[in-house]
Amino acid sequence: MGETAKLIVGGKEYELPVFVGTEGERAIEISKLRDVAGLITLDPALMSSGSCKSAITFIDGEKGILRYRGIPIEEFAVGEPNFIEAAYLLIFGELPNDSKYDDFSGRLTNNALLHEAMRHHFEGFPIDAPPMAILSATLNTLSCFHIEFLKGLDDPEVFVEAAARLISKVRTIAAFTYRRSRGLPFMYPDPKLRYCANFLHMMFSAPYKQYEVKQVLEDALNLLLILHADHEQNCSTSTVRLVGSSRANVFASCAAAVGALWGPLHGGANVEVLEMLDRIRAGGLTPAQCVEKAKDKKDPFKLYGFGHRVYKNFDPRAKILKEACDKVLLALGRRDPLLDIARGLEELALKDSYFIERKLYPNVDFYSGILLRAMGIPTSMFTVMFAIGRLPGWIAQWKEQHDDPSSKIWRPRQIYVGRTLTHYVPMHERE
Ligand code: CMC
Repeated sequence: MGETAKLIVGGKEYELPVFVGTEGERAIEISKLRDVAGLITLDPALMSSGSCKSAITFIDGEKGILRYRGIPIEEFAVGEPNFIEAAYLLIFGELPNDSKYDDFSGRLTNNALLHEAMRHHFEGFPIDAPPMAILSATLNTLSCFHIEFLKGLDDPEVFVEAAARLISKVRTIAAFTYRRSRGLPFMYPDPKLRYCANFLHMMFSAPYKQYEVKQVLEDALNLLLILHADHEQNCSTSTVRLVGSSRANVFASCAAAVGALWGPLHGGANVEVLEMLDRIRAGGLTPAQCVEKAKDKKDPFKLYGFGHRVYKNFDPRAKILKEACDKVLLALGRRDPLLDIARGLEELALKDSYFIERKLYPNVDFYSGILLRAMGIPTSMFTVMFAIGRLPGWIAQWKEQHDDPSSKIWRPRQIYVGRTLTHYVPMHERE
């Protein structure tokens, strides 16, 4: 028997196994605790609880390490970043060789179009509908057009096709959402273009003029999507696993995750950051006031794009994105005043004892908006971009759980703190 932990409650001693991961992380296994001791653990925001074992992504928050299937995130940022390669790696566990890559990429091309009936759905949404609401609704709607994918995902051929459909169509849905919000005609996908270039084409081409995709922007978009592709058991990914644990299909599980990602403490933070930087630029707020407001416990304001549940040193994604912003703006021959403001704000916060003591550093959402702006993506679409990037991670985590014969439905316990036994009072006797 390996290492064990001892728990003493009410004079009785219980021995619990300690599970050690491949990177040496240790966890006390408590799944049998209620059976043997009649006790549960209480950890409301899951601050100290692991919900699963996973072989997809490794994070060491103290050292600022992020790896996909063992590969450091920094290694995806060199040369020509390729989001589809990273997506394949996350979902299927290995980097694709030539033929596997061509096969998967062919499936993406074949699946890029939306069913025409699905296209009409966009016309039913109000012009100012929140893009994340449209995304969640349409991802779920997709399953109506592919009922053959609601079951049978144990078959690798069916699963790869379902995964390709989701990854390919999410980008068409995102672009159509934007076009609808601007009253622009929908642009159909162009099979000659690669994943990111095709997205930019659907966003920005006009029926009479094809958008010319600059290589530097295509690379930057690939990089940005890779950096968002997976992040182990964050809020939206845990949603995928929670929903998927009932054996709900992958479309429904990912649609639910979009709702979780939308929140300003999670993916929605990228919108909040840009709005904050914009307010500073417009003179409505100084960087120093921002920092003071964030520290004031009576003020609900937060320094969005700062802090992380896991990273307590630096977020490697923010570091890569900050450098990418410089590189892209230089290549485009542009300056973005918001980048200077962001840099200044970061410097100010990192010198402040409040942020130092709490180990709060810029996270992935702090610089991503500046890169998205350089591509011409409007702020309202930022969280949708995060979702396009995170989709392969959601699919990979759904699959890992689905393929695990020991997985069970998630059903946490609670500690009841309401009224003790009370009796029903008929309406006429109530005060
Ligand atoms: N501004 C001001 N204070 C903060 C911030 C912030 N951005 N982040 C954390 N704190 C304070 C927090 O008030 C608490 O203070 P105290 O100990 O005095 O009560 C302390 O730091 C610990 O924070 P926490 O809220 O207990 O930490 P958490 O792990 O529950 O939350 C977080 C993590 C990311 C939700 C939080 O840092 C936050 O709200 N950040 C701003 C929103 C944001 O940028 N979210 C994106 C996260 S990264 C990408 C993603 O997941 O989507």
